[in-house]
Amino acid sequence: MGKVIAITSGKGGTGKSTICVSLGAALVKRGYRVLLIDCDSGMRGLDIMLGVSNSLVFDIADAVSGNCSPDQIVYPCNHIHGLSLIPAPQNAVDELSPSVLKQFTENVKKSYDYILVDSPAGVGKGFETAITPAEMCLVVANTEPTSMRGCVNVRKLLTDFGKTNIRLVINRFSRSDFKKLHFYDDLDQVIDEAAIQLIAVVSEDRQVVSAIQKGTAYKGSCTALTAIDNLAARIDGENPTLLIT
Ligand SMILES: Nc1ncnc2c1ncn2[C@@H]1O[C@H](COP(=O)(O)OP(=O)(O)O)[C@@H](O)[C@H]1O
Ligand SMILES: [Mg+2]
Repeated sequence: MGKVIAITSGKGGTGKSTICVSLGAALVKRGYRVLLIDCDSGMRGLDIMLGVSNSLVFDIADAVSGNCSPDQIVYPCNHIHGLSLIPAPQNAVDELSPSVLKQFTENVKKSYDYILVDSPAGVGKGFETAITPAEMCLVVANTEPTSMRGCVNVRKLLTDFGKTNIRLVINRFSRSDFKKLHFYDDLDQVIDEAAIQLIAVVSEDRQVVSAIQKGTAYKGSCTALTAIDNLAARIDGENPTLLIT
């Protein structure tokens, strides 16, 4: 039965969608069947990252309203065999409810090993929908005070929603900027402020962006993708190194 993992953050732009796609590719590399669900109604983007936007006909709102069958909203990613996508509704008005997504993930769990749910920015209804079916929640943050505030808010909300399996992903980490900006003395201070157990530190690395946009996240190698491979390994119960910069 597939494990549902929600990728969240308080603020937009911390790298949720990037982590979602690259983690999906890393889990596929480990031999798993992975489904990505885009919950960013009205602002969907995973279809572009996975190169399937031209083939999209139906989305999850169509399946809910009975315009199509549930199979018709699952789009296999052409260049990453084993990775599939359910796109978010194109219109924000079609935002999904938590109960609908929960039921939907229950129905497809048997066909996948991992279901990664990409949450929209903020902590509104889309966030609640994304986290409702999740057995594990990743909080993606950057090492800036505003990002950390979002992270703390999200951690409190996740706890209020009864989530206990919460892990911190520090993304876009640059050791030189971290030192130069000096918002924090060290990463321990960041982790203490978040009060979430760390599971990955992914470096600022344009190569990860290029690999995703070009559809080569599956086979590319760079510091950030190695960190994401290690994130996949940790999710899979292994214990590789945390810090690669
Ligand atoms: N590790 C990284 N290194 C460099 N750029 C990154 C990294 N992760 C994300 N980005 C860039 O940051 C921006 C926001 O990423 P995105 O995944 O869309 O964030 P979110 O889904 O949280 O809004 C994008 O321009 C993306 O290419
Ligand atoms: Mg996003």
